[in-house]
Amino acid sequence: MKLNIKLITKVFAVVLPLVLFAISLSSCGDNEEFGVGPVKEEMKLEPINDNMVARGKEIFNVKCVACHKFDVRLVGPPLKDVTKRRRPEWIMNQILNPVEMTQKDKTSKELFAQYLVQMTFQDVNNLDARALLEYFRAVDENKVTP
Ligand code: HEC
Repeated sequence: MKLNIKLITKVFAVVLPLVLFAISLSSCGDNEEFGVGPVKEEMKLEPINDNMVARGKEIFNVKCVACHKFDVRLVGPPLKDVTKRRRPEWIMNQILNPVEMTQKDKTSKELFAQYLVQMTFQDVNNLDARALLEYFRAVDENKVTP
């Protein structure tokens, strides 16, 4: 009997840290830098795709210009270098899920506090958001002028 208790204690000494480690890993599942929204997996970006850039520019000039410029503040923040200050996943989620982002994501909350206007969902799908991201990448690498 004594031996068994020792054994049990030993097993716990090994298992407990493993369980705690697993729990700490699973809570990392919400990657803060990705923001909150449909994009949860890390994105692998290819070299800039010109067709997507052209599509992104078109969408931007219809759905985003009312509130954004690149060089100066308008209703929302200037978007020049946004791909340098934020992760692509975060940018996608801000475009696809702006309201929840300003409620739950630390960075987006801070922007809302600063700009005092809620960015609204512009009825874009994942492909549209992806094209917009490509356009921002091209602008930030000075491949196109906004
Ligand atoms: C009604 C005005 C409005 C419209 C329309 C709008 N935005 Fe915004 N945007 C904002 C505001 C304001 C913020 C700052 C966060 C907030 O307060 O909601 C913001 C934040 C952002 C950010 C984060 C900027 C940073 O510095 O991190 C990105 C990226 C962005 N918008 C992209 C877009 C795109 C792309 C579109 C078009 C599909 C768009 N926005 C349409 C007002 C707008």
